[in-house]
Order: sequence, then structure tokens, then C-alpha cells
Amino acid sequence: MITSTLQWVVASALVLPALGKIYNNPTELTKTTYDYIVVGAGAAGAVVAARLSEDKKISVLLVEAGISDQGIVPLTVPFLGPSLSPGTPFDWNFTTTNQAGYLNRTIPYPRGKILGGSTSINFMAYMHGSIGDFDRYASVTGDSGWNWNNMQKYIKKNEKLVPPADHHDTTGELIPSLHSTTGALSVSLSGSPSPLDARVIATTKELSNEFPFNPDGVGGNVLGIGYNFATIGNGTRCSSVTGYLTPAFGRSNLDIVLNAQATKLLVTGKVKGLPSFKSVLVTEKEGAPVRTLTAKNEMVLSAGVFGTAMLLQHSGIGDRDELRAAGVATVVHNPSVGKNMSDHALLANMWSVNNSNSFDAIFRNPNLFNADMNQWATNKTGPMTGTVANNIGWFRLPKTASIFKKTPDPAAGPKSSHYEMIFSNLWVDPIIPAPATGNFMSITTALISPTSRGSIKIMSSNAFAKPLLNPNFMTTDFDIFTMVEAVKAAKRFLAAKAWKGYVLGPAGDLKTANTDDEIATYVRGHAATVWHAAGTAMMSAKNANYGVVDPDLKVKGVDGLRIVDGSILPFVPNAHTQGPIYLIAERGADLIKQDCH
Ligand SMILES: Cc1cc2nc3c(=O)[nH]c(=O)nc-3n(C[C@H](O)[C@H](O)[C@H](O)COP(=O)(O)OP(=O)(O)OC[C@H]3O[C@@H](n4cnc5c(N)ncnc54)[C@H](O)[C@@H]3O)c2cc1C
Ligand SMILES: *[C@@H]1O[C@H](CO)[C@@H](O)[C@H](O)[C@H]1NC(C)=O
Ligand SMILES: *[C@@H]1O[C@H](CO)[C@@H](O)[C@H](O)[C@H]1NC(C)=O
Ligand SMILES: *[C@@H]1O[C@H](CO)[C@@H](O)[C@H](O)[C@H]1NC(C)=O
Ligand SMILES: *[C@@H]1O[C@H](CO)[C@@H](O)[C@H](O)[C@H]1NC(C)=O
Ligand SMILES: *[C@@H]1O[C@H](CO)[C@@H](O)[C@H](O)[C@H]1NC(C)=O
Ligand SMILES: *[C@@H]1O[C@H](CO)[C@@H](O)[C@H](O)[C@H]1NC(C)=O
Repeated sequence: MITSTLQWVVASALVLPALGKIYNNPTELTKTTYDYIVVGAGAAGAVVAARLSEDKKISVLLVEAGISDQGIVPLTVPFLGPSLSPGTPFDWNFTTTNQAGYLNRTIPYPRGKILGGSTSINFMAYMHGSIGDFDRYASVTGDSGWNWNNMQKYIKKNEKLVPPADHHDTTGELIPSLHSTTGALSVSLSGSPSPLDARVIATTKELSNEFPFNPDGVGGNVLGIGYNFATIGNGTRCSSVTGYLTPAFGRSNLDIVLNAQATKLLVTGKVKGLPSFKSVLVTEKEGAPVRTLTAKNEMVLSAGVFGTAMLLQHSGIGDRDELRAAGVATVVHNPSVGKNMSDHALLANMWSVNNSNSFDAIFRNPNLFNADMNQWATNKTGPMTGTVANNIGWFRLPKTASIFKKTPDPAAGPKSSHYEMIFSNLWVDPIIPAPATGNFMSITTALISPTSRGSIKIMSSNAFAKPLLNPNFMTTDFDIFTMVEAVKAAKRFLAAKAWKGYVLGPAGDLKTANTDDEIATYVRGHAATVWHAAGTAMMSAKNANYGVVDPDLKVKGVDGLRIVDGSILPFVPNAHTQGPIYLIAERGADLIKQDCH
């Protein structure tokens, strides 16, 4: 994509923010002791800091490695989401190891390094996961507090359904009773209609057996095709900063420090024989002055699925052999740290379409781009208020699928999915740039119930060195089988009458992916990730012989340390992950508050 977008990024990055009560460098901090220190200001960290600081008697410091998001225009324009990573000033720039299941390709793995974390750069899709996801979290941890019913009160605190940017009548696109209008985070349906929308919905009628319409996928019943919700209010991105931190900026008991990377947790004593990890070393960059910050009550790690696991490892909490190889002394041997990573593999499938109004043109034609940006700036309407998809769907393999002779069904119960489809009115491949001419649509297929498991581990005691990040994509028979079936399903979908005269034919290498073997090779040669990694500090039952945190999110074998972020999810959910992570963060904040009194 998009030279013109990058110009916006660069131009507006120069606009310096007018900050509230925020320190721009750890050396500026006047206090070094707080009741709670929260490391990482992403989806989860912002929730925890905002909820804890609602109690004026509690002092909180939120520590963020990245820069401020304030005043950077592209971070607020929904349609520019895909231009915010990889390889931008807001990205940690992770790269995977050679992926054996991807013909030894490496892929970039963006994570937000900025206030708001990945919620400031993500694609904004919002949903909660399936009923089965949360019921399984409850059953594997032995804590019914994680079940779907109990989590409903956190949806009330998190979601604030608002009208779409174009204020169209949303009757039939959602079930109002399944949504909250009282939460912190603005959520809306698309305000940017596309010529695909009516055809997708017509196909759910025409092929209703295989691709049924789902009147609302957010309420726990994910199966079928429905409308896509996004964290957008008034046509503008709503991140964890907009939703949670902005209202908390003025609180005298909440400090935020930016450009502050936590490099190591320190043992501050022993409690009941367990090492207490209540101090953290923080620095702006390699070689810069280091501050030691201390939490009186608890240290909370919300550094995300990679950052949290790496910080544990740098602090001597991890697999003893791996730590030794990296030159780090082991304090707590726990072989689960950095393991059991599950993720959604993604594959962008493109077709040429007979429609000169696909959104591809916006990124090719500077006049159109500028007109759309002006409309957005003036009225907060138009194509710039949209995301990459107005409709998405979640599906199961048939019960009779041959793979179930070898592999037990890995889905989170019979009403959870195996794969997803995302319908886009443009070329959306994160791997292959859009061609200079032509009009396209995409059906991105994604693996939702992977059986492959990956890992992250540090290679050095230097906190600024790159880790070994191995999501291990497509390394099981189930995973490749399901991805192949998903491509075949996408082709069946577009064979419906609704697409006649609209779809001209497959584009790129999809053209030659016809037999199962050809499709498998095409998958391995083109797939990437939806950036939903989870599980590197997984939660397990209190007495389990594996896992990193207990169901109350306290790190096992350690005192004073909790983890609240995507790393604790034992299985990646039937959702784009921000929604479920916001919910676990709301509950995490409640669990911390309960212990405080
Ligand atoms: C490109 C992209 C698109 C996505 N699209 C969607 C989508 O459309 N819908 C959806 O639901 N999900 C999406 N996701 C995923 C979703 O955004 C993440 O799952 C979610 O934000 C993770 O929340 P978190 O709190 O665990 O971590 P993050 O939001 O990643 O926050 C972690 C924070 O910790 C900070 N940090 C890390 N290490 C340190 C350290 N050592 N010291 C100090 N600070 C540290 C980081 O800078 C960051 O701010 C997307 C992700 C990406 C990268
Ligand atoms: C990621 O790459 C971009 C572009 O080169 C750079 O500006 C940014 O600082 C990098 N991020 C990190 C954490 O190194
Ligand atoms: C991937 O790399 C491994 C190890 O180097 C090698 O054995 C294998 O043949 C390679 N696979 C492909 C498809 O190139
Ligand atoms: C949208 O804008 C209106 C008017 O400017 C304002 O009152 C409202 O609070 C805004 N809503 C959101 C969700 O930001
Ligand atoms: C990974 O999770 C499974 C349960 O899903 C567990 O049995 C296994 O021990 C875990 N592996 C590690 C290394 O923690
Ligand atoms: C904004 O909306 C007004 C009123 O509907 C309209 O007249 C104007 O043309 C719009 N501006 C842009 C840039 O689209
Ligand atoms: C393209 O669409 C137009 C109508 O919008 C139709 O007349 C024409 O036949 C279509 N072209 C193809 C190749 O299907």
C-alpha cells in the first residue's frame, strides 16, 4: 500500500501531543514507589490502570515502552489501520523464525509499541468469543468465574454500542439486547457500505445450509455470517487510550510514564518462602539511565503475549535450560513460560471483480485519497470510517470430515468454530502488495481452532535483543486440512448466483490452486497471521503441573506478581482477540481490587 498514507504518518507524527499527567521519560519520574505498577499500556494494561485508579486511595504507575499516541492523525482514521504496521515507529517489529509449515518463510509479526499498545494499531474488529471459549477457560482452570455467564458483567463495563458513522438504520444487522451501551469502549457497525455487503447477505440466503446468516455473532453464538463490529465511535478509532485512559488522565493517583521499557523484575524479598518480585528496572533505550521502580502491593504485567513472556524470562522465571542458554540465572524454574502459544493463521484469497468502485482505488489515486480524508476530517463520514470488512463468518468442518478419524475435535465445544471468513472490498494480502491496476475482493480465511502450538524465548540476557519467535504455523494435519477446506468453502461461497457477473475469477496464485494438494501448497506459500497469538503465560488450575498463572492471574511459585493480558489465555478464542482480552482485563482488575481490601 500506500505512499500517501505514509506521508500522513510522517507528517502528523511531528505534531507534538498536549499531554495530561504523563512523563515522557523514566528519568523524569519524581516518585519511584506506587501501590501498583502496571507494565504495558495496551488493551489490558490500560483497563487495569484505569480501573485500579478509580479508587482514589490507590496509587498507580502505568509503564509503557512506546511513545504517546496523542496528535497522530493516522492512528485515529479507521481505514488507515492496515498502514500502521509492520515496520512503523509504532511497531515492535518482531519477525518469526523460518516457519516449517510455511515452506520456511519468515513473516513479520507486528505488535503495538505505543500508548494503547496493539489497540492503537489494530484493525478494530470487536467481538467477545464463543460461549464455549469462556466455559472452557472456566473448566480447565477450575474457576467458574471465567465462564460465559459470569463474564457478562464485564461486557457491560467494556462495550458501549454507538451508532455507525453514517447513522444508517441497523435493524436486522444486530440484536440490541446482546450489546451493552454502558461500557468504556465505543463499538459500532460499519459506516462505510460496500458493494459486497448485499451479495454476502444474499449468499447466506441462497446457500443457507452451509453459510447461514447469523443475526449477531457478538453474543456468544458465533457460527454463521453476520455483520462486523469495530471499536469505532463517531467515525474515529477507539483504542484503550480513548476508551479507558483519556477519562483517567487527570487523576492525581495515576501516573503514566512513556518511552519506558521494563527490562527486568527484581526479587525484593521472600513471602511464605516465595520470591517477591515487586521491583522493576525501567529505561528509555539501551545504554540510557535505568530507574528502579517498586510496587508496595503488586506488580502487574500487561506487556502482551510476547513482552510479558520475555520479561518473565529476563527476570529468571522460565525454563531453566533455556534461561541458562541465554545467560540468565534461574529464580523460578517454570517450563511453561513462553510455550503453548496458539494463534490464528490467516490466508488472503483474492478475486478480480467487475466493479470499478472497489476500495483498491483509494490507495492508488491521491486525489481520491485526499477527498476521502477531507470528508473524514470535515464530517467523520465516508470510506475512511470503515475497516477492512463489513461482514465476517465463523464455520465448522462437517462432522463427517475425514480428519476427525485422526484428530479429536479441537474446537471449544460443538457451537464453536474451526475457521473464519472475512469479506473485503479490496485486495488485503499482508504478504503480497496490491497490483497497480485492477479491482479486487478478498475472502480472508483463518484457522480458528489450531492444534499447532508455538513458543517465544529470549536468546540473550540483553532485554533489547530480538527473541526467537516461533508460532509454528501449519505443523499439524488438522491445521493444514482445515485451511485447505476453508479455501474450498470460500470458492463454494463465490459460486453462488449472487456473485454472477461480479466475480470475474481468482487472482494471483489462487488461480492455480485447484486440487487439495495444490491448495495445500498455496496455503503454505501464502499464509500469515491474524496477529492473535495467546497463551505464552497460560492460566491453569491451581494444582496443575503446568501453566504460568493461577486462575486469579497470580504467577505460580512467586509472590507479588500478576499477569493480565493476552498471554494468559490457554486457548486462542473464537474472536479477534481484543474483545476477550478487554474482558479478562476487567475481571483481572476486579480480582486485584478484591485482594487489596
Ligand atoms: C496489526 C494488528 C491487527 C489486529 N487487528 C485486530 C482486530 O481487528 N481485532 C482484534 O480484536 N484484535 C486485533 N489484533 C489483536 C489485538 O490488538 C491484541 O490481541 C490485543 O491488543 C492484545 O492486548 P494485550 O493487552 O495483551 O497486548 P498489547 O495491546 O499488545 O499491549 C502490550 C503493551 O505492552 C507494551 N510493552 C511490551 N513490552 C514492554 C516492556 N518490556 N516494558 C514496557 N512496556 C512494554 C507494549 O508497547 C504495548 O503497549 C490485532 C493486532 C495487530 C498487531
Ligand atoms: C521498527 O521499525 C521502524 C521502521 O524502521 C522504526 O521506526 C522503529 O523504531 C522500529 N521499532 C523498534 C522497536 O525497533
Ligand atoms: C526447510 O528447512 C529445513 C531445515 O533447513 C529443510 O530440511 C527443509 O527441507 C526445508 N523445507 C523447504 C520446503 O524448503
Ligand atoms: C460524538 O460526537 C458528539 C458530538 O460531537 C459527542 O457529543 C459524542 O460524545 C461523541 N461520541 C463519541 C462516541 O465519541
Ligand atoms: C501446554 O498445555 C497443555 C494443556 O492444554 C498441557 O498439558 C501442557 O503441559 C502445556 N505445555 C507446557 C510446556 O506448559
Ligand atoms: C460534509 O457534510 C456536509 C453536510 O452534509 C456537506 O455539505 C459537505 O459537502 C460534506 N463535506 C465533505 C468534505 O464531504
Ligand atoms: C460487468 O457488470 C455489468 C453490469 O454492471 C455487466 O453488464 C457486464 O456483463 C459484467 N461483465 C462481466 C464480464 O461479467
